[in-house]
Amino acid sequence: MIMKRILFVCLGNICRSPSGEAVFNHLIERTNSTSDYYVDSAGTSAYHTGEKADSRMRKHGVKRGYQFRSRSRAFIKDDFDRFDYIIAMDSSNYRDILKLDPISTFKDKVFMMTDFSKEYKGMDVPDPYYGGADGFEKVLDMLEEACSGLYNYITNEV
Ligand code: 4NP
Repeated sequence: MIMKRILFVCLGNICRSPSGEAVFNHLIERTNSTSDYYVDSAGTSAYHTGEKADSRMRKHGVKRGYQFRSRSRAFIKDDFDRFDYIIAMDSSNYRDILKLDPISTFKDKVFMMTDFSKEYKGMDVPDPYYGGADGFEKVLDMLEEACSGLYNYITNEV
């Protein structure tokens, strides 16, 4: 299989998209398919550039067995060329990504995370930053279901 390059995108790149990256990495490690994928994450803002994932997000994720390796960085135009699947966590992220592609050259590569979900189709993965523990658990529930849908989608497509 030709290597597939996947970029998860949220606002700060410290909660939802690093978790998407961690959940997807766990999935491809379990299926011995790491060499088929290049996985990264980014934020539509640069507020948290260089930071590790939020400590609350890491705590909830590590409990479920995920590893957080990324440092926050901003989404840039070059990412449209560098990735095959650009996956927005919510509709505001989706719009912000497409603002950088004014003539829709890359629109077919840009998805919503829940496009790959049965249970949560059409929904945003809600920003947990200003809320409590439930929000972080909800993010992980949604990402686990949607990432397995994404994995099945890619493996069936190629
Ligand atoms: P994320 O969460 O987009 O899932 O990383 C957020 C993190 C930080 C902020 C907003 C959302 N913030 O405004 O600083």
